[in-house]
Amino acid sequence: MISVKSAKELEAMKKAGAIAAGALVAAGEALKPGMSTWELDKVIHDYIVSRGARPSSLGYGGFPASACISVNAELIHGIPSKKKIIHEGDIVSVDVTAEIDGYNGDNAYTFRVGKVSDEAERLLNTTEEALYEGIKMAVAGNRIGDISNAVQTYCESRGYFVVERFIGHGIGREMHEAPDVPNFGRAGRGPRLVPGMTICIEPMINQSCAQVQIMPDKWTVVEANGNLSAHYEHTIAITDGEPLILTKSSLHHPK
Ligand code: MF3
Ligand code: CO
Ligand code: CO
Repeated sequence: MISVKSAKELEAMKKAGAIAAGALVAAGEALKPGMSTWELDKVIHDYIVSRGARPSSLGYGGFPASACISVNAELIHGIPSKKKIIHEGDIVSVDVTAEIDGYNGDNAYTFRVGKVSDEAERLLNTTEEALYEGIKMAVAGNRIGDISNAVQTYCESRGYFVVERFIGHGIGREMHEAPDVPNFGRAGRGPRLVPGMTICIEPMINQSCAQVQIMPDKWTVVEANGNLSAHYEHTIAITDGEPLILTKSSLHHPK
């Protein structure tokens, strides 16, 4: 069942979204060559806890850290590690979920570490723009398939590959709720959007193939050819008018 949030619940969702978004901004500010992904995770953990919230990812299905941090070919679910050092030219996907007052906010951003290759730049721009193409369709009366199709069409028109194995989702009391929000599909299909629904739109886009592999750590998801991958995510509320981005911050500026 798809939950429709009351005005009061939406206030809690806004609070959670703002903390998740702030943690992502803090991660971007702290990110520098030479640091480990474990250190970056600690920045995120401390930010969330200092705001009275809880990092929802910590312990989720046994996940051992507060954020997922995925470098270069790693797409999602990278486990922060003291041994994983970030270098100039890397792209680093950071995915943060925070819970406060029983509600969750979830967002992700692929950061550039210093100057990145032209190929990386184009992949990141396309994936972020695809997120906003999806968000544009997140209006009452549309269907989930309208969002999915917008993301897919945008990325494929630029020669990239949509990962189908992992998808966006509804969000609220649980980090993952109904409905599924795939990054591929047909316009006009799927559940109809109504005001008060809250969903996560999260394009996961590969440079050279749609396939992914799971690493032996059982979490880290990588581009199957070892080429680059990118991930951007926002938590959105469907309203009577424009989509409301609950995880909006200074970070996200589509061109
Ligand atoms: N935040 C992720 C998402 O966008 C889920 C992370 S679950 C974890 O759905 F266990 F890997 F942290
Ligand atoms: Co997420
Ligand atoms: Co999500």
